[in-house]
Amino acid sequence: MDTQLKNRKIVLGVTGGIAAYKSCTLCRLLVKAGADVFVCMTEAATHLVGSDTFEALSGHKVSIGIFSDTKSISHIALAKDADMVLIAPATANTLGKIVAGMADNMLTAVTLAATCPVVVAPSMNTNMYHNIATQENLKTLARRGIYVITPASGDLACGVVGDGRMKEPEDIFEDICSILNDRLPHTPLMIENGQGRLPSPKAPLELTQTKLLPKSLGLGFKVLITAGPTEEQIDPVRYISNNSSGKMGFYLAQVAAQLGADVTLISGPVNLPTPQGVRRIDVKSAVQMLHAVEAFVTDSDIMIGTAAVADFRCENISPIKIKKTEDQDSLTIKLVKNPDILATVGKREVQRPYTVGFAAETNNCEEHAKEKLVRKNLDLIVLNDVSRQDIGFNSDDNEVTVFDKDGQVAHFDKQSKQTIATFLMDLIFKAAKQYKNAN
Ligand code: C5P
Repeated sequence: MDTQLKNRKIVLGVTGGIAAYKSCTLCRLLVKAGADVFVCMTEAATHLVGSDTFEALSGHKVSIGIFSDTKSISHIALAKDADMVLIAPATANTLGKIVAGMADNMLTAVTLAATCPVVVAPSMNTNMYHNIATQENLKTLARRGIYVITPASGDLACGVVGDGRMKEPEDIFEDICSILNDRLPHTPLMIENGQGRLPSPKAPLELTQTKLLPKSLGLGFKVLITAGPTEEQIDPVRYISNNSSGKMGFYLAQVAAQLGADVTLISGPVNLPTPQGVRRIDVKSAVQMLHAVEAFVTDSDIMIGTAAVADFRCENISPIKIKKTEDQDSLTIKLVKNPDILATVGKREVQRPYTVGFAAETNNCEEHAKEKLVRKNLDLIVLNDVSRQDIGFNSDDNEVTVFDKDGQVAHFDKQSKQTIATFLMDLIFKAAKQYKNAN
């Protein structure tokens, strides 16, 4: 994998799990890839691996207590400059402290002060790992946008075989490379400067970009997203559907969760993994999707409709497989109109979330998008031209223009759907904040 680690400042937190010895290899891999690694050990960890080992591997003094050495780097300085805080191994005890917002040693203090991505690689005995306290803590961390590298199953130091074994250093290394890659471009400065470009970075561009992503942007927001196609059954084995891959909605859900929001993703049938920290509800038909949306909408601050909902469904679904006969040249199926899910939300008179729609158009694109914005009573509409083969349906890329009631808000040139999702969530959270304050 193309690593984004060159010149990155990584705080490697080592806590008192037996897997601490593996962190030496992890530290070595990070340093070899060009990262500047600062190790913070808990006192317990020093009983398992000597701090001298990490000092030799990282080339920096190891921090343990907050007050142990006044000449050493402060927790605030360490947190401010870090591109990532990676805690591996993360014991149940340290995870609990992070959840509680404690800052009783250098590592927990740095984690509390950090604004960069935080990644934890839990490592502990199976029963400790499966204890409801640990599981709830991990869920809380994921919901807050902290990455959890799920432990593997295998031989544990305590003699049992089960879940709780820290992932191998090479695998953790791969995971953090993808996190840093995924976290690339972000918009706030682009939009606020009105320049359409990032300011010249003091460090290499990829180094500064992650710092531009304020993790708290989505905190306090409940986001409801529909994604994917719907399937409208004809008989037990046939249905009407479309080519939507669901990627745009899943990326939006991923970014929103990373930014700290509580995200519910209502998805039609797609072949995509659930983004970390996202509540996913699978549905098939438009009517099922509407019911799921109705169950969550009153408790949502933002609703984003990316689903390609079938406009029509069969009036009667045949309970048995429809057979063709020799003398039959045609088959007529009566279709009836499906509910417009987004319009139902947009037109709510009370508890109406900030409502965002997508318009996939092939002709007179802008005109159609603006008309939909009004007809469905949306706050924002994201237009993409699906007549183009290189973007939109089933593609990894997109190019979109965003409109609100006053006209065009932004245009994002062709780039990955993941990056577009970052731009869009930034814009949506900011607009939704204003909407929330005004309502
Ligand atoms: O009317 P059209 O399908 O082009 O509108 C697209 C937007 O409306 C999308 O955001 C889509 O998710 C949403 N929509 C919906 N329910 C429908 C049709 C579209 O939520 N029945």
